[in-house]
Amino acid sequence: MTDYYGAVNQAMWDERAPVHAASPDYALDRFAADPAFLSDVVRFDRPRLGDVRGLRGVHLQCHIGTDTVSLGRLGAVMSGLDFSGPAVEVARNLAKRTGADIDFRQADLYDAVEVFGAERFDLVFTGIGALCWLPDIARWGHVVGRLLRPGGRLFLREGHPVLWSLADPRPDGLLVIETPYFEQPEPTVWDEEGTYVSTEHQFANTVSHDWSHGLAEVVSAVLAAGLIVTELTEHDTVPWNARPGEMVEHDGEWRMRDRPERFPCSYTLQARKP
Ligand SMILES: C[S@@+](CC[C@H](N)C(=O)[O-])C[C@H]1O[C@@H](n2cnc3c(N)ncnc32)[C@H](O)[C@@H]1O
Repeated sequence: MTDYYGAVNQAMWDERAPVHAASPDYALDRFAADPAFLSDVVRFDRPRLGDVRGLRGVHLQCHIGTDTVSLGRLGAVMSGLDFSGPAVEVARNLAKRTGADIDFRQADLYDAVEVFGAERFDLVFTGIGALCWLPDIARWGHVVGRLLRPGGRLFLREGHPVLWSLADPRPDGLLVIETPYFEQPEPTVWDEEGTYVSTEHQFANTVSHDWSHGLAEVVSAVLAAGLIVTELTEHDTVPWNARPGEMVEHDGEWRMRDRPERFPCSYTLQARKP
């Protein structure tokens, strides 16, 4: 197991997984009912992802498997990894219900090479609330680099560190930087009720630890792993309502209602292993 506050985070994700599975936001029933249904995240990513048919892919921090199944539906041969046992259980059930053949494993991100082996994948897919749970982005980059076979690529879309560093919405509407933008050795500790899907569930595990990773720190981690960056795009949208009261729905994502051009909400980073 992890030695970096991971147990606290794992307890939170273990409790969240079945709640997320039951929530309409993750739409598990729609996956079962419609074999062409894709997650909103993968639908957004599709133009940048391009043709993934036949690629051996791994979805790191795959949560309950909705994006993993979606990539499988686009023709990739998928594996998934997450450290939450209940999340992996939901993901395996979703694969079973939808007839998808996906190798879901329960493991810490930093153990992914031990779990799958080195240079096994054409595509590493990850993001949307994944990197913030990892204390060391350089070490993450090293894992990604080792998982990819030569010629394989990383596809990362993640919440932007500028978005993560903002204080909660204020009555005066000002955007205020509150938490670290750059990676820090110590985590930011949160104690929050609720989660990012709609639910009445009263959570017992409300404490979490997270880490910011500045955009250049993420790019540097990928470069240090020997990959060549092929795309870096900043978006003014994000897949969840990250600033309640200030964001509106926009093309299946969420965007600031007022002057969305002020700051980036998410980014796509693609890189290739030579
Ligand atoms: C916000 S979810 C990822 C979201 C995903 N994009 C989705 O919506 O399906 C974050 C996931 O990271 C997993 N996670 C957090 N820390 C991890 C670690 N150290 N190793 C592996 N998985 C981890 C959690 O269990 C959780 O399922």
